[in-house]
Amino acid sequence: MPAITSSAPGKMILCGEHAVVYNQPAVAIPVLTLFTKTSIFARPTAPKGEIFIRADAISLAENLNILPNENPIRQTIELVKEYFSLESLPACEIHITSTLPVAAGMGSSASLAISLIRALSEFIGHPLPVDQVNSLAFEAEKVLHGNPSGVDNTVIVYEKPVFFQRDHKPELLKVAAPFHFVVANTGITASTSEAVARVRTNWQNDREKYENIFSQIGQISRQIREFLELGKFCETGELLTQDHTLLQEMGVSCPELDKFVKISLQAGALGAKLSGGGMGGNMLAMVTTESADRVAAVLASNGAKKTLHITLPASVEE
Ligand code: PMV
Repeated sequence: MPAITSSAPGKMILCGEHAVVYNQPAVAIPVLTLFTKTSIFARPTAPKGEIFIRADAISLAENLNILPNENPIRQTIELVKEYFSLESLPACEIHITSTLPVAAGMGSSASLAISLIRALSEFIGHPLPVDQVNSLAFEAEKVLHGNPSGVDNTVIVYEKPVFFQRDHKPELLKVAAPFHFVVANTGITASTSEAVARVRTNWQNDREKYENIFSQIGQISRQIREFLELGKFCETGELLTQDHTLLQEMGVSCPELDKFVKISLQAGALGAKLSGGGMGGNMLAMVTTESADRVAAVLASNGAKKTLHITLPASVEE
């Protein structure tokens, strides 16, 4: 029997991280060149319910029941079983590979959950529609991150740029012309839940200041949505840099991210900001095709552990 295979991309947040937790809108884009892939092979001769997991990137090769309860793969499989009211799954071997960096603001956990949910639902003969995959992935994210906004699973499941606001239907965005970005990894592993908790404490200590920052960010997200749809590059870049300043004020940047933003702008980027939870992880610089290599080279020679050129393509009419 051939393997069932499914994959899910990564993502970057263009604008609105943290503020989105407080009901402001965010804009996020998929990164289609990096992805998680799940393959499921049936093991008809193995005892029912015996599931072997292989994930070479994290040196994992174990039976599922050996994994700790809080393991994200185990958690996601449990959610799928619960959703379909299954006592056990048919015996199988699950292979997971990923080209996404972990804990770097590129959505590795949501990408894993989505590729696994898609593959499992297909394996048991009930492939789920996209909205349902999204809700299950959101549950998986909640188990892992506590109180996520849902932006990561939403942009990854739809694989389209998205204008996202809690408790609103996500809006998929049309993009007038290709936008180019350079992503630079600080090499600092950052916990999104710690960053979210830091913002919460700061907000509790000074609600007026923080709510003002959140609403300015919400306004930037609304403008960026328009600029993407109109293909306004310089204006978008300026707003990204403004967003970084607000994230600094919020207390979620760090010296390395600030340095990357500064040198990207000096090297000709149209705008730059931290992306994701902050306190490390990745910086995102908006570039042109002409400045992309120069910005990436400057970042690499100033301590970036990895740089990546990503393109948000223009939308095609459906
Ligand atoms: O998963 P990350 O690190 O890209 O960050 C998610 C964005 C936050 O707004 C900080 C948290 C959330 O749940 O939206």
